[in-house]
Amino acid sequence: MITTNTKTQSLTKRPAWQALQAHYQQIQLLHLRQLFADDPLRGERLVIDAAGIYLDYSKNRVTDETMRLLINLADECGLSERITAMFNGDIINVTEQRAALHTALRAPKGERILLDGVDVVAEVHAVLDRMALFSDKVRSRHWLGYTGKRIANIVNIGIGGSDLGPVMAYEALRLYSQRDLTFRFVSNVDGTDFTEATRDLDPEETLFIVCSKTFTTLETLTNARAARDWCLDKLVDDHAVRRHFVAVSTNAEEVTKFGIHTDNMFGFWDWDGGRYSMDSAIGLSTMIAVGADNFRAMLKGFHAMDEHFRTAPFDQNLPVIIGLLKLWYNNFFDAQSVAVFPYNQYLKRFPAYLQQLTMESNGKHITLDGACVDYQTAPIYWGEPGTNGQHSFFQLLHQGTRLIPCDFIGFFQSLNPLGDQHDLLMANFFAQTEALAFGKSQDEVKADGTSDWLVPHRTFEGNRPTNTVLVEQLTPETLGKLVALYEHSVFTQGVIWNVDSFDQWGVELGKVLAQKTAAELKTADEPLLDHDSSTNALIRRYRRFKSGQS
Ligand code: F6P
Repeated sequence: MITTNTKTQSLTKRPAWQALQAHYQQIQLLHLRQLFADDPLRGERLVIDAAGIYLDYSKNRVTDETMRLLINLADECGLSERITAMFNGDIINVTEQRAALHTALRAPKGERILLDGVDVVAEVHAVLDRMALFSDKVRSRHWLGYTGKRIANIVNIGIGGSDLGPVMAYEALRLYSQRDLTFRFVSNVDGTDFTEATRDLDPEETLFIVCSKTFTTLETLTNARAARDWCLDKLVDDHAVRRHFVAVSTNAEEVTKFGIHTDNMFGFWDWDGGRYSMDSAIGLSTMIAVGADNFRAMLKGFHAMDEHFRTAPFDQNLPVIIGLLKLWYNNFFDAQSVAVFPYNQYLKRFPAYLQQLTMESNGKHITLDGACVDYQTAPIYWGEPGTNGQHSFFQLLHQGTRLIPCDFIGFFQSLNPLGDQHDLLMANFFAQTEALAFGKSQDEVKADGTSDWLVPHRTFEGNRPTNTVLVEQLTPETLGKLVALYEHSVFTQGVIWNVDSFDQWGVELGKVLAQKTAAELKTADEPLLDHDSSTNALIRRYRRFKSGQS
């Protein structure tokens, strides 16, 4: 167990960190053009081909020495021990005094992981089996609504990890989904979300999955109540709730209080963080969409990446290398953000999913020892599917003033071959990383016959780092691998930054203030406001508008 009373050496004082700093001074200006010219085999050497994923990291501003020093840093920070601790179910989520055992969610049947003497893998598979029975019933249209009509629409209500994973996986695996079922996802407390999602649905044919680990989240409970009203408006009888609502939660008491019978509840565990839960019962909508076999294939993919992460030497370890490279830019080049570009339309929600995974996990400034960091932690993650981004913000990547390391994710095979469109997509995929790395020099621009005054504008300095991640095809299994790849790269970084990657105290203050403010917006009498002058004035203005006195 990692405790807060053993002081770890400050990261920036570690010999490996200082060696990296000195090394950075030497190579910061080194150009990728030079690195490739010096080593004609670089593009074949700085690659990892493992677990069905090909990573080319040669277009990064690193030398062999950089990689050696980064791995030294991982070693000095005890990454191996921490990986073992995570897989063993040790209490690595220190501030919440919990294990972070999401890897148990995809452990194969029969494997044993004991937590407080209980085999959690057996529990996981018991829930998976119940989910499979239920989803088979819905998919075969044997789950009937209260009036006897078949369920045709599934609406997932949840937010954060109880939404982003399900919606991302649904979009990613749409090709594998049962097309005669309609799936919608409601997360925002803005009434528009629920209203638009249900506008064309018939309550008699609609099933709500209320997903919330805590079952206390304001947005989800508010939307769930709106859903119950919407349903009962037509179905009238409270008993209808049993046919139209299921819950996914760790909190049976609150689920019962809401009026959902625990027979209709699928559980998971406090050792599974919300943003690491798309492969738990939180993925019920995914399983209904793609079927239990495909869901299990996705788990198999997750597990394959887990095993790779657990066993591969660091210099051949995909999550470790990706994590370390991001840390290299974040902490030594002072890069502020990371961009992720899936060249696959089905992965359009993948960057949004990664935002919670990366930023809620490592957006921390207090170490496990309770000290304030003197280095940057999580960068800002963002992205869009290619090729769309090329026609909006790629200009800044190519010629802006910021260094933004990017991950390009592409697939050999299209799921929807259409003429030569996949070749065109992939041509752009390859062209972008080439242009970012090598740019176009002034001499090359001049040689094109460009007028002198225009030369600076048309010059690309290059030296913009990218990773290329290539996968055969987007399948449930490869999706599992990709998600686990990022999960573990986030863990790798969290270990080095010495933060708790599994808590999220930073979201609490806003929640508390919103509760207080909600009461102030509601009350009929003018409330006594004790916020700052700006917030007080804004609340008063809103209240005046509401009461028609603006
Ligand atoms: O407020 C942040 C958060 O706690 C996330 O960590 C979580 O994924 C989300 O809210 C939803 O929480 P729950 O599943 O308990 O409703």
